[in-house]
This record gives sequence, C-alpha cells and structure tokens, in this order.
Amino acid sequence: MIRALGSKIDLSQPDTEYNQMVCDLISHEVVCQMKNYIQHGRTTTFQHCVNVSYYNYLICKLLSLDARAAARGGLLHDLFLYDWHTRVTPVGEHNHAIAHAGTALANAKMYFALDEKETDIIKKHMFPVNPALPKYSETVVITIVDKVCGVMEVLDYRRWEIKALARHFRYIRYVKGIERAAVRAVEE
Ligand SMILES: [Fe+2]
Ligand SMILES: [Fe+2]
Repeated sequence: MIRALGSKIDLSQPDTEYNQMVCDLISHEVVCQMKNYIQHGRTTTFQHCVNVSYYNYLICKLLSLDARAAARGGLLHDLFLYDWHTRVTPVGEHNHAIAHAGTALANAKMYFALDEKETDIIKKHMFPVNPALPKYSETVVITIVDKVCGVMEVLDYRRWEIKALARHFRYIRYVKGIERAAVRAVEE
C-alpha cells in the first residue's frame, strides 16, 4: 500500500488516475531505492516524494494545469540516493540544499525520458534557495508543495514522538501500580 501523508487513498491501485500517470516510475528499482534514506523525521525520501507528487497532482488538477507532469516531476524531484544527514559534501561541491536538485535531475534523466516541464519541475523545485526562476506554473506549485510537505512530515514526527512519550509514561504508571500492589500484598 502506498499512501500520501494525510490521505487514505491507496496510490498503488492501478484504477486511480494518479497511479496510471506514474506507474512506470513508482515501482521502478531506482525510485524504490529512495526507501532506504530518511528525508524528514521518520519519513523516507520515497515517502516524501510520494507526498509531494500526490499533492502536486491534486493541486495542478484543480488548477487545470498539467497534473501528469506535476505527478511525475514530483515523484522524481528528490532522486538523490544518499542520506543527506550524514553525507560529507565533497570539496568544491555545493552543499546538499543547493546541489541536490541537479543530482536528482541527472539521475532522473539517466533512467527516464523527461519532458521540458518535468525537467523544470525537478531542476527548480528548490527555488528560491536555487535562484533560477521557475518557467512553468507547475514548477511554482512544487516550490510551495515541497516546503509544506516538509513541514507536515516534521510535525508528523513530533506527534509520533509525543505519542511514544505518552505510551512510555503510561507504562511507568502501570509498572508503579503493580509495584505498589505487590508491596501491599506483602504487608498484609
Ligand atoms: Fe529537494
Ligand atoms: Fe523535496
């Protein structure tokens, strides 16, 4: 099952329009390699790309833009295959925030045929960190969706941490209750 954060729709089902637009990408070995790396919080780069791709698709469809390019470009926009948290930037290379859009584009071009709009979406999704101006409305959409998804993923992680903490305290209370009951039983 593949779901975007906050959605209940199974995007792996071939009867969804979204799946029909990205089916050759979403199951591709190289795209699936993104499952091995964390992007934000506990969200993998693959899941992040699904989130961005799906909401890109929905918004562009709503705005009568090119929803197909939005979905495909979104799914490939972070196709760099390393953990950016631990990677040491090679001497003479820009840092990850600036360089990864170019890396993702080079990787995407190596495995897939991209049209001009998909290329622009991947190459400029980091605007304004990368100052090159988006050429298409679909690129403007991803510059916003990418950032909103990043925030949603971090908040989701915080919520998960709070729940884990609450579970931990419930467990401590439970153990202390058992200890008190055991002490009472010995005293009686
Ligand atoms: Fe990115
Ligand atoms: Fe991203």
